[in-house]
Amino acid sequence: MGEFSGQTVFITGAAHGQGRAVALAFAREGANVVAFDVAKQLTYPAYEFGSNAELGSLQAEIAALGAQAVIAVGDVRDDAAITAAVDAGIAAFGRIDVLFNNAGICAYAEIDTMTDEARDAMIDINLKGPMNVARRVVPHLKAANRGVIINNSSVMGLRGGRRLSHYVASKWGLTGLTKAWAIELAPYNIRVVSIHPTGVNTPMNDGLAAMEGATPLEIAERSAGNLLPVPWVEVEDVAQLVLFLASEKARYATGSQFTLDAGLLTV
Ligand SMILES: NC(=O)c1ccc[n+]([C@@H]2O[C@H](COP(=O)([O-])OP(=O)(O)OC[C@H]3O[C@@H](n4cnc5c(N)ncnc54)[C@H](O)[C@@H]3O)[C@@H](O)[C@H]2O)c1
Repeated sequence: MGEFSGQTVFITGAAHGQGRAVALAFAREGANVVAFDVAKQLTYPAYEFGSNAELGSLQAEIAALGAQAVIAVGDVRDDAAITAAVDAGIAAFGRIDVLFNNAGICAYAEIDTMTDEARDAMIDINLKGPMNVARRVVPHLKAANRGVIINNSSVMGLRGGRRLSHYVASKWGLTGLTKAWAIELAPYNIRVVSIHPTGVNTPMNDGLAAMEGATPLEIAERSAGNLLPVPWVEVEDVAQLVLFLASEKARYATGSQFTLDAGLLTV
């Protein structure tokens, strides 16, 4: 029996990176998972998105851990796909306990040369996406009179960033949603928190590096500010924080911002 046995966790952006690590960490603790991912290349940004093969191997790995996964392919901009995924999760497991709003994109652009596509994709995926998903999951949390929503913001949801204004705006927006939803949903015993990692060693970081003609390490060093002598944190560090926040150990944490930044925001 794990800490989350019998519970269901709905995770967006689950195919690879942080979402996948969080899905596996919950499964190790006995939770069933609804793994939602667009699982195809989008036109923006030009880096590697998750794939059907990754979702398939995730489902197998979760099964090997003794838990179950419902795989749901869709875009967080697509209400019909989100609704179908939520319905499939409820049909399979009868409940949703935790929502990890994690799917997101990142790319560099300066404001005077930013394209409509860059601006709109960033806001539509990173900010409207979590709203789209929450509005379909929250009715099930309300009905159960319990639940946890964890929003994956970024250190960029608590500070500025060079050539990242569209990303920074989307992530500050997600910080704001966290506070507003915490107020709105507290009467239903639903907690809402956000996490704020520094650079994380994921395909996103690799993709940003490739677009910049740099190595992942060079990209990490360019945006450096970590106090601890590490270029980035690992996905397992994020997973452990998310597990803690979803657990009863964090039962009175709501509306709060949890940094995982190797000290970056200290100075
Ligand atoms: N990597 C970092 O340095 C870092 C740091 C802080 C915060 N974050 C945030 O953490 C989250 C996860 O980042 P990551 O590093 O794991 O990224 P990643 O690019 O490695 O993985 C993101 C996953 O989300 C999926 N996805 C992207 N757009 C989607 C959409 N429109 N609909 C459904 N699925 C979609 C992708 O297919 C992919 O599987 C993002 O919100 C990101 O902004 C990342």
